[in-house]
Amino acid sequence: MSNLNGSTNGTHTASDDSATPLNPNAIRSALENVLDPDLQQTLGALGAIHNVEFEVNTVRVYLILYAPLHFAAERINNACKDAVQRIAPQARVEILVQEKMPERPQNRPLANVKHLIAVASGKGGVGKSTIAANLAAALARKGAVVGLIDADIHGPSVPTMFDLEEEELRGTKNEQGQFIGHPMEKYGVKLVSMGFVMARDQAAIMRGPMQAGYLNTFIEQIEWGALDFLIFDLPPGTGDIQLTMAQRVPLTGAVIVTTPQNLALADVRRGISMFNRVNIPTLGVIENMSYYVLPDGSRDYIFGQGGGEKIAKEMNAPFLGEVPLNINIRKGGDDGMPVVMNDHAPLQQRAIMELAEKLASEVRRRSAAGAQAPTVQISI
Ligand SMILES: Nc1ncnc2c1ncn2[C@@H]1O[C@H](COP(=O)(O)OP(=O)(O)OP(=O)(O)O)[C@@H](O)[C@H]1O
Ligand SMILES: [Mg+2]
Repeated sequence: MSNLNGSTNGTHTASDDSATPLNPNAIRSALENVLDPDLQQTLGALGAIHNVEFEVNTVRVYLILYAPLHFAAERINNACKDAVQRIAPQARVEILVQEKMPERPQNRPLANVKHLIAVASGKGGVGKSTIAANLAAALARKGAVVGLIDADIHGPSVPTMFDLEEEELRGTKNEQGQFIGHPMEKYGVKLVSMGFVMARDQAAIMRGPMQAGYLNTFIEQIEWGALDFLIFDLPPGTGDIQLTMAQRVPLTGAVIVTTPQNLALADVRRGISMFNRVNIPTLGVIENMSYYVLPDGSRDYIFGQGGGEKIAKEMNAPFLGEVPLNINIRKGGDDGMPVVMNDHAPLQQRAIMELAEKLASEVRRRSAAGAQAPTVQISI
């Protein structure tokens, strides 16, 4: 059990203890009625309350909640504290949270990774790598242990986006004499990219099966350790790499990035149906370059408004949000610091943190539901 910033002081004094004894039944039932914000069910209905202990003026609550909890824990903690202190304002409340994961086979690649997420799109240049880098850094900022695989073997972006262009993959041989690579690390994110293995022009002439071979190496011969999230930045389209991913990696789901234009939206349909056909759920659609903020603070929806949300609805996939077209985002990519790490760009930072929160929330919902792909079938 870990105490996720769990304790708080009520207005505790010695006289409080004797004046108002705690009412265990009332407190238990208040806790049972607290709503899990992601799952929209009460903690009671979810069987999330493992135990409640009462000790003089302290209420100690043991919760078991579906992972990932990096965003959800604080909200659930606060809701529980409020629920107890509405009944017993003088109580000191401690909340201890244990993570729950659905049962999974252990003899699979990346068995130590809790949530595996592909960032994909049908169309090139819509901002997949930008979004993947920012989501990874955002999750790491919230305390998650995060890895990012640059699965764009042909045209890697991670070295530039993390300012690691001169770096080379290093590793050691294991007892079987097999090379085991050590990921780079920046902004709390573990990173692997073809750009750490060979020059960009060499990678660009590699054929599909060879690219897939390298991706396998990144999956199986890198010392990832235990991760909360492993994000895959995919190349555009529906080629060998996507197929390798679908076959080799037990993905939690895919995030589809689009821009608002009609043509890009047609590609979203194609992207989602590709993942549907290989039974990988779509965790959500992100609309990038959605609008431009004018000097007076108003939004100019240059390419039209609401397209991403509409397509998400049509495809029965959650809509995770809009990311503005903004120079800090572009510069963050070129300068090697994802905008979510840039405290001088608070608006863009907030937009990305909100996306990461929505994604984490969707992953929790999938965990709780035992995650099956939606059965939308669309021909491509
Ligand atoms: N919201 C944004 N605002 C401004 N520039 C952006 C935004 N999103 C992405 N860009 C810029 O657009 C360009 C393409 O983005 P990115 O490389 O992330 O796209 P991609 O979908 O990964 O491309 P590819 O299909 O080639 O892999 C980059 O220069 C990036 O900095
Ligand atoms: Mg890319």
